[in-house]
Amino acid sequence: MASLPLLVDCDPGIDDAIALSYLAAHPGTEIAGIISTGGNVEVAAVHRNNLVLAEQLGLEAPIARGAERPLVQEPIFADDTHGPGGLGHAVLPAPAGTGDPRNGAQLWVDLARARPGELVGLVLGPHTNLALALEIEPELPRLLRRLHFMGGAINHRGNTGPTSEWNIAVDPEAAQRVLAAFTGAPQRPVMGSLEATETVRFTQDTLDRFTELAEATGHPIAQILVDALRFYFEFHEADGFGWMAHVHDPLVAAHAVTEDFASIRPLTVDVELAGTLTRGQTVGDELGRWGRAPNLDVLTDVRPEEFIEHLLETLHAGLGRPGGA
Ligand code: BDR
Ligand code: CA
Repeated sequence: MASLPLLVDCDPGIDDAIALSYLAAHPGTEIAGIISTGGNVEVAAVHRNNLVLAEQLGLEAPIARGAERPLVQEPIFADDTHGPGGLGHAVLPAPAGTGDPRNGAQLWVDLARARPGELVGLVLGPHTNLALALEIEPELPRLLRRLHFMGGAINHRGNTGPTSEWNIAVDPEAAQRVLAAFTGAPQRPVMGSLEATETVRFTQDTLDRFTELAEATGHPIAQILVDALRFYFEFHEADGFGWMAHVHDPLVAAHAVTEDFASIRPLTVDVELAGTLTRGQTVGDELGRWGRAPNLDVLTDVRPEEFIEHLLETLHAGLGRPGGA
């Protein structure tokens, strides 16, 4: 099977860590580069997490640290959701390396220029570094094979503000600039927004299966995921959702790789920047009132149970191989 090369921009983050582990374990992927974007926790902690996760997963891709802060607004962090270090209760070793010397925006540009038309961009955090990369290389939408991202909420409540989703709320200007730049790209970007990703509900049974994964494979990453997930469950319970966790990023990663587990529908979407109550909302023009062509393909009709089975099978096979992922 030919490998799908991915450039992953993420902010681990508990669900980001599961997504990275999935991508490393999947036999049909090549992680070509990782960008650390501040979001769930500050960029220094995100970068340390990416370094450790990549080392534990045996990834040799360049890992570049991104910007210190969003384009315009003050940084916000989600340590209540992901823990003070970003990976819940997991205790990580210190990373052996420091990563690639380039900044995150430059890595986006260099890798995309080096492999025109090949790389799939996968953004699992705020869009800050991709927006900065577009300032260096406005041709990025045509240099990438396709862009997939987790973010937004269409006709669905927010998880940050009443109408805003976290990845967009952290840096709304960056998200707006990315959507504008990718309008008319050869392939419409694929957006996995909350109404799709919140169908992926991990329960105690799923948590038990991650514990079994750790026991069966003995892989250190699996124990990190168990300890991280426990924190995610505690957060969701404290937030009123009960003993479960919405696990967003892995679905978007898996759809980028397999084009499976969900359908897509075209939609014209823009980001509210000025609303006094709704800043950071992704507004979908369902009835075509703006007269603008669809600029995104939005994930819909998710098959969450099938996806969770696929996720666990992929992790078992990849982490269970001698020397895996
Ligand atoms: C998104 O925000 C982050 O907390 C998660 O990692 C995910 O990317 C969900 O709104
Ligand atoms: Ca994330």
